[in-house]
Amino acid sequence: MSMNGYILVEQSLKLSGTVDLIGAKNAVLPIMAASILTQGKSTFYSVPDSSDVHEMITLLESLGAKIFFDKKENILIIDTVNINKSEVTQEVMDKMRASILVMGPLLARFRKTRVALPGGCLIGARPIDLHLKGFEKLGANITRDNNYFYASINQDKKDQQIVLEYPSVGATENLIMFSVLQKGTTNILNAALEPEVLDFIQVLQKMGAKIEFDIPATIKITGVDNLKPIEHKIIPDRLEAGTLLLAAAITGGEISLPNAIPSDMDLFLEKLKQMGHKIEIGFNNSNGIKLIATNNPKATDIKTCPYPGFPTDLQSPMMAALCLAQGESKAEETVFENRLMHVKELEKMGAQIKTKNSKAIVSGVDLLYGTQVIASDIRASAALVIAGLAAEGKTEVLGIHHWRRGYDKMENKLKKLGAKIKVVEV
Ligand code: EPZ
Repeated sequence: MSMNGYILVEQSLKLSGTVDLIGAKNAVLPIMAASILTQGKSTFYSVPDSSDVHEMITLLESLGAKIFFDKKENILIIDTVNINKSEVTQEVMDKMRASILVMGPLLARFRKTRVALPGGCLIGARPIDLHLKGFEKLGANITRDNNYFYASINQDKKDQQIVLEYPSVGATENLIMFSVLQKGTTNILNAALEPEVLDFIQVLQKMGAKIEFDIPATIKITGVDNLKPIEHKIIPDRLEAGTLLLAAAITGGEISLPNAIPSDMDLFLEKLKQMGHKIEIGFNNSNGIKLIATNNPKATDIKTCPYPGFPTDLQSPMMAALCLAQGESKAEETVFENRLMHVKELEKMGAQIKTKNSKAIVSGVDLLYGTQVIASDIRASAALVIAGLAAEGKTEVLGIHHWRRGYDKMENKLKKLGAKIKVVEV
């Protein structure tokens, strides 16, 4: 996948129409890792053709899995019978941080694993201390050798309770995958309960895992002897939905997403309503979100938190829309330590934003101006495309690899809605 190239966006007014959402990247990656727990052929539907999915395919093939991916039909078949390796190299880990999600299933399947520390990125150091502490609490021995961690289990674990210091999505998923094949019960308190985590848990339950929910934010696992391969349709991507809704909002348009799941994004939809946009939900067997944009959007405040709080992955796309909302909007990023890098790029387009640590105050302006900007992560690339749709003139968004990592040719959906957008790969 080329790192060069850019997304060319021109001012596009009143996006309108209907599009279907593809499956969620942040559900399919842990679900692909979970296939390691079975010996057989699983089939997944609505799998996005994005480079993160291809990285996970490469990783699983390096372990011995046989994979067939029909990119046109978005059908992914993973045969894990021949998985015979329990190690992941630094080179593979560096390509995608989500590679750490194979640590739990490899430990469960082989009772040992060796993985490299995944790289940090621009939005934060992305430590894995909660994953490692959890594995140790569950009886694993972990030693570090430079950048590699070697983990092994040499005694059957007793019933255990883990209280996560932070409801980490990846740590919750890794510890569940480790526990489902261990004797006894494991309770994980302060667990992450994002929609993608729940879809991932549904896959494990279909495979035969015994997983229940309790309060407060507790996941209870009772180990079983083995899990079987299954078929599953990945849940629609709420982050793709958020991006498309904001593209319609900022251009004064009207779009309908029939397979969007409103309950996956209650607070986000609430914030769009606070801006003055009209939102209709549930018109398609309780699914479906429709937005009819207001032409005079008002400021509102957002603060990112674990689900069901405002999602960190929609913070930068939302901020793009707030740049043209009347009044002062406050935005606070509490999940990652450095996820306001899109601010200086939006300022290059004429936005008025003041930042202090992880807080930003956005003062609405009447117009944004197209120019060349640089995306710092997947969601910043979406934010800058959204801003470019409303900005006068042309906007070139550099950092195309971020766009390709997180979305399945979303430019085609935006084009179908009337956006003047094209991806220029050099
Ligand atoms: C998942 O990342 C998502 N990625 C992220 O999406 C998402 O932003 C994030 O959850 C929060 O919702 C996937 O699901 C593949 P965390 P993850 O562990 O699991 C700290 C995108 O754009 N932390 O919940 O890495 C961590 O540094 C990506 O699609 C520790 O300190 O997120 C962060 O500040 C970006 N120690 C916070 O917790 C740990 O051991 C949340 O991280 C683990 C995490």
